[in-house]
Amino acid sequence: MPRYLVLANQTASSPELTSAVRKMVEKKADTEFVLLVPATPVEDLLDWQDGDNETIAKRTAQAAKEHLEGIGAKVVRTEVGDPSPIKAIEDELQRHQEKYDGIVISTLPLQRSRWVALDQPRRIERRFKLPVTHVVGHSVTMTREELINGLNEDLNLELEGLLRGVYHAAAGRGMLGHELRELLKKELPSELDHATFLADKIVALGGEVRIRPSLPAELGAARELLQENIAGERKIISNYAKRIDQASEFGDKGLVIRLENMLASETDHLEQLERLGR
Ligand SMILES: [Fe+2]
Repeated sequence: MPRYLVLANQTASSPELTSAVRKMVEKKADTEFVLLVPATPVEDLLDWQDGDNETIAKRTAQAAKEHLEGIGAKVVRTEVGDPSPIKAIEDELQRHQEKYDGIVISTLPLQRSRWVALDQPRRIERRFKLPVTHVVGHSVTMTREELINGLNEDLNLELEGLLRGVYHAAAGRGMLGHELRELLKKELPSELDHATFLADKIVALGGEVRIRPSLPAELGAARELLQENIAGERKIISNYAKRIDQASEFGDKGLVIRLENMLASETDHLEQLERLGR
């Protein structure tokens, strides 16, 4: 029966690896798999996990084994190996002296994977003289496309805030209208900064800037204007909180910090608006 060594860590339960394994089982139902999980250092993992390298790798291996068995694959053994994939494979081959028909290497996408960056799949093929199948776990990470879509949504909210601010600052009436005007005018430059930053960032990520803000509602009493501005701030704050998670998952620490600063500035702004309403 065919026997394959599957090297995976963060993508061990990814749909991509699952589908690759399923295809192999469909071809030959008695195919056996040994799952080897390198004990990747905790700080190199995408998401924070409790425990040391070994414990996390063991947990990942167990979960992946159950997952692959769930689709009918015969996982005969799981092993936790050296953090270096090459060393992990070498140890495994020496220790067990089993014959493998090939190695399946499952990694994160190029930009996120240290293994791919080191050209591991090809090095492994040359070194162990076994056919290597490289499976990329795209769906494990936040995609660039999703992040760009989110940033475009934020950009439009900022532009809506700008349009609303210009309009309300000019047209608000009465005592409250006057106070609102002062506050909104003061915030306009920072909203413009936010919008400019987001548009630049979208382009830097290789995306397309899609400007489609909705126009401010028809002018109401000052108190209604205040409520519209408060609602707008709440919306953008909740958007930035989401975006910070996505940017962090995407691995862009600089963007995380910029978004955090923007979230802080919007929170100050919201609090000032709320005070005005009291
Ligand atoms: Fe803003």
